[in-house]
Amino acid sequence: MKAFINDIVFDREIVDTVFEAASGAIEAIKKHGDAAVVNGAFGTYFDESGKLLTFNNVYEVFDQVDVIQKAKYASSIYGPPEYQAAVKQWLFGKHALAEEAEVIATPGGTGALASTVKNALSPGEILIQPNIGWGPYTTIAKEAQTPVETYEMFDGDAFHIDSFKTVCESVMQRQGKVVVFVNDPCQNPTGYTLSSSEWDAMVEILIQLNTQGPVVFVYDVAYVDFNGLKDAYKKNFERFYQLPENILTVIAFSASKTMTAYGMRVGAQVLISSNAPELRRFKSACGNTARGVWSTVNNGGMKMFSDLVLDAQKTLRYEQEREPYLALLKERAAIFVEEAKACGLPLYPYHEGFFATIRIDDSVVKNELHLALKTHNIFFVNVYGGLRVALCAIPLNKMRGLAKRIKDVLDTLTQSS
Ligand SMILES: Cc1ncc(COP(=O)(O)O)c(C=O)c1O
Repeated sequence: MKAFINDIVFDREIVDTVFEAASGAIEAIKKHGDAAVVNGAFGTYFDESGKLLTFNNVYEVFDQVDVIQKAKYASSIYGPPEYQAAVKQWLFGKHALAEEAEVIATPGGTGALASTVKNALSPGEILIQPNIGWGPYTTIAKEAQTPVETYEMFDGDAFHIDSFKTVCESVMQRQGKVVVFVNDPCQNPTGYTLSSSEWDAMVEILIQLNTQGPVVFVYDVAYVDFNGLKDAYKKNFERFYQLPENILTVIAFSASKTMTAYGMRVGAQVLISSNAPELRRFKSACGNTARGVWSTVNNGGMKMFSDLVLDAQKTLRYEQEREPYLALLKERAAIFVEEAKACGLPLYPYHEGFFATIRIDDSVVKNELHLALKTHNIFFVNVYGGLRVALCAIPLNKMRGLAKRIKDVLDTLTQSS
């Protein structure tokens, strides 16, 4: 007999490990008070007083956006021309890439990733992701009915370039096309940032692959504005200028972290390819997805972004306000990483950004630790290969001694088994 739900999604349910862990933390705070709880589950930045960080210089610009602008639909399905220009300026500055790139406004980075997968792969075709990555990548693949194959993130403390190469080559051989996700800098959930030589090697692999079939390189830069090099990191994008014609780079841009505007749902797909006709064809298909799935993006949010980015003074004030929070994140991370090292708590290589991940290869131990920590009012997100610690959400006073507390719980579990 037929059901309300269709035959493809009939067993699909939303199991979101972040929201699940976060709601556990909220319950514990209600019960035991904030001081007793370490909420390392949220993926958003909280200041030292436990308040969600919001940049005044962002919200002042938003408040100045005319009500009519906030109320109306965007002037284009691709985002207003000023928004498209602002995204390019934010990512590429004055580089000639801005001429080559095409922008499609999307609801956050999530919209950019989902539309890219949907338009690059037919149902049944393989999407390549890192084995340790942001959970919703798998949800996005499921929505697009694309099976997933993974490359290993790490070889020791370095990016596993051989695994990246082997998996991409194998998929290219089998399906004549590669669509691959890379999240950099400040990878979620490990905090890894690729080195310049790792980037060189990766781009070389993409160039080799493109002789055998189309390559869609999906470059998720959700945390780009929280990297230590700041705008200097963005020089990295120049690698994608005038690559061979069989490569399409899609930068998934998100204003969520950059502008502490998670709920505003502002983001973009930024398409780069030296193959102009194919670039336009891909752009049109994504425009069609936009029209058929979400219509236009939040106009007030896009106006805020372009008003801020296209005004040098406003941008400067925003950067000055962000500065101490970059330093604070670094300070929190240094405490956690150094203390973890001192007490022998294993972490994946952490460089920078919102998250670090405790490395636990045995998934039984990992699940036990996740549960046991909850009984100590410590909440993290259970990810592949470990537990994700939201450095962005834990104040300094709770960070001190945290690694040792976790290690003690881990020791009790491993000694008793
Ligand atoms: C790795 C990564 N990519 C993309 C996103 C997309 O975020 P949003 O859709 O809010 O822009 C996030 C948000 O947590 C993320 O962590």
